[in-house]
Amino acid sequence: MPNSASSSIESPQKKSGRGTPALSYSFLTPAYDFVMARIAREYAFKTRLVEQMKLQEGFRVLDLGCGTATLTIMIKKACPDMTVVGLDFDLKILAIGCAKIKRSGLDISLNCGTAVELPYPNGCFNRVVSSMMLHHLNRAEKIRALKEVFRVLKPGGELHIADFGKPKSILMRLPSIAIKYFEKASDNIEGLIPMILGHAGFGQVKETTQFATIFGPVSLYKAHKG
Ligand SMILES: C[S@@+](CC[C@H](N)C(=O)[O-])C[C@H]1O[C@@H](n2cnc3c(N)ncnc32)[C@H](O)[C@@H]1O
Repeated sequence: MPNSASSSIESPQKKSGRGTPALSYSFLTPAYDFVMARIAREYAFKTRLVEQMKLQEGFRVLDLGCGTATLTIMIKKACPDMTVVGLDFDLKILAIGCAKIKRSGLDISLNCGTAVELPYPNGCFNRVVSSMMLHHLNRAEKIRALKEVFRVLKPGGELHIADFGKPKSILMRLPSIAIKYFEKASDNIEGLIPMILGHAGFGQVKETTQFATIFGPVSLYKAHKG
């Protein structure tokens, strides 16, 4: 497994891979934390996501599509005696995450790589978490990435996801229409994430809750590697 110092970025694949930047355009990346904290209710849904992960000392945890590492840092603070790794394809956003980790003084590794080809051996994580990354992938990429997550989880390990979901209220239908057309999120908005998780091999798939945000409904999911 790639190993890197607490506040450096390692690129195990010697390339940054492909993907869509956090706010779709690279020039908007410096505004990402502001948007998420002030407009997108990130602390509400990320706090709940960390709670449902049921973290334990000694766990190895991967934050897939970690972006600016806000969630990665929350996870490490929730249970410091764990190995926590963040992975993202975008070196620009990883640099922001790296600076935040340095300021926090926490021991967290950031790796540059793509979700569809994870640079980790089989069965090496107890938990994988992914927040607002899946809707950046088309259906084939989602399945490929989730099969990769299944591969790197230990037997009995769990995947926890926060991402756009099928709207449960009239209020959430309007932003959902916009997301569906501007992002690769139609599978999310049509409620197909549980089916796609099952297709990738996961069992006991559950949507645990949903948050209403200005960008649309953010659902939390939990899935087991049997
Ligand atoms: C909306 S941001 C979410 C960031 C962070 N997880 C959060 O919740 O704030 C989506 C992230 O997924 C990353 N991403 C998109 N496609 C990816 C891929 N194929 N492999 C790895 N990361 C990817 C982007 O670079 C971006 O940082």
